[in-house]
Amino acid sequence: MDNISVSTTDVRIERHANQLSRQLKLLRDKLFPPLAQKTLRTFSSGEAAQMIGVSDGYLRQLSLDGKGPQPELSQNGRRSYTLGQINELRQYMAKLKPKDALSYLPWRRPGEKLQTVAVTNFKGGSAKTTTTLYLAQYLALAGYRVLAIDLDPQASLSSMLGVQPEFDLSDGDTLYGAIRYDAGRKPLKDIVRKTYFDGLDLVPGNLELMEFEHETPRALNDRQKPAELFFRRVGVAIAEVEANYDVVVIDCPPQLGYLTLGAVCAATSLLITIHPQMVDVASMSQFLLMTSDLLSVVRKAGGDLQHDFIKYVVTRHEPFDAPQSQIVALLRSLFGDDVLTATILKSTAIADAGLTKQTLFEIEKGQVRRSTYDRALESVNAANSEVLAGIHKAWGRP
Ligand SMILES: Nc1ncnc2c1ncn2[C@@H]1O[C@H](COP(=O)(O)OP(=O)(O)OP(=O)(O)O)[C@@H](O)[C@H]1O
Ligand SMILES: [Mg+2]
Repeated sequence: MDNISVSTTDVRIERHANQLSRQLKLLRDKLFPPLAQKTLRTFSSGEAAQMIGVSDGYLRQLSLDGKGPQPELSQNGRRSYTLGQINELRQYMAKLKPKDALSYLPWRRPGEKLQTVAVTNFKGGSAKTTTTLYLAQYLALAGYRVLAIDLDPQASLSSMLGVQPEFDLSDGDTLYGAIRYDAGRKPLKDIVRKTYFDGLDLVPGNLELMEFEHETPRALNDRQKPAELFFRRVGVAIAEVEANYDVVVIDCPPQLGYLTLGAVCAATSLLITIHPQMVDVASMSQFLLMTSDLLSVVRKAGGDLQHDFIKYVVTRHEPFDAPQSQIVALLRSLFGDDVLTATILKSTAIADAGLTKQTLFEIEKGQVRRSTYDRALESVNAANSEVLAGIHKAWGRP
């Protein structure tokens, strides 16, 4: 490389980018080797019994009688179950006791429409991905069939779910493959992949999603080829696989682009994440105005903008911080029931678990301090159970 080009800004920035990316890769490989397959921990028989809704004694008897999937036995005779086995047992119980089937196997019934929850806010770092991930895992652990869609080119949801965009994906392996305008389009079922988390499937994301932002204006101007309207494409793709799922959760990128609009139109409900700080809330009013403007254009063009519920979720909440408390109180007084009663607490347990690409649901107890773990998990579960209540209400369940 000659001296002149080394000193130009483009070359310099490129060098910085390469240095940084090399260092990040080293760091990541140390924390999480690229070829390590993610696995989910097993669940103790007590945990499994609680998740299925039977007693531990009943579960032991089943296994003694050789009925249902057989748990792994440790040397001291403790039984443990994989999530896959727990889900098999749910199906087994639902068949055994058809009258109570719904309490063992909560899958949606005929007439209960697919629920699609879009998690959004154009504010970067407002815990969209974390909220999406915890909701998806919470629902999967509860026995629902869940599809998580990563609409963010940064792909952090994908990597949390064990797919490394740099190593594992080729062209067309993201939702873009199913919503693109040209002949390269393929069915969504060819893109969906299973994860290590039984009952939770993934449509991964990566940089190619940006193509949709670039191509949509072109498609809108192309009068020869009236393509399916951009705001319907996400929903049309999801409809191709809807029979396999109860709930779809979408992690939106931190922009109000065509992808986000497509997700909002495909959604049956919206979760808007809020970090309760003055700067974030100030930009939120701008976000709401812009969203409303764009959505009204979409609605006038024929977009479906009926949502079963729209909820604001306060995340990274520090309840003992006075300014934060004021903001949360303000939001509650303005938006009332549209703000979830439970807030997701700011917790080093959540942040630390995130460093090793795990959630609190995944880590073995004892990996983080017990009290922080319990408090954080309780807040996550409370928020998710309110979302689930909204879903049940949309299904007309009591
Ligand atoms: N409840 C929490 N407690 C502590 N840290 C959290 C919590 N929720 C999220 N974080 C951390 O905050 C950071 C941002 O979260 P996240 O990636 O979920 O935000 P995001 O809105 O998806 O960001 P982006 O706009 O870049 O997509 C992450 O480092 C995450 O680990
Ligand atoms: Mg994100």
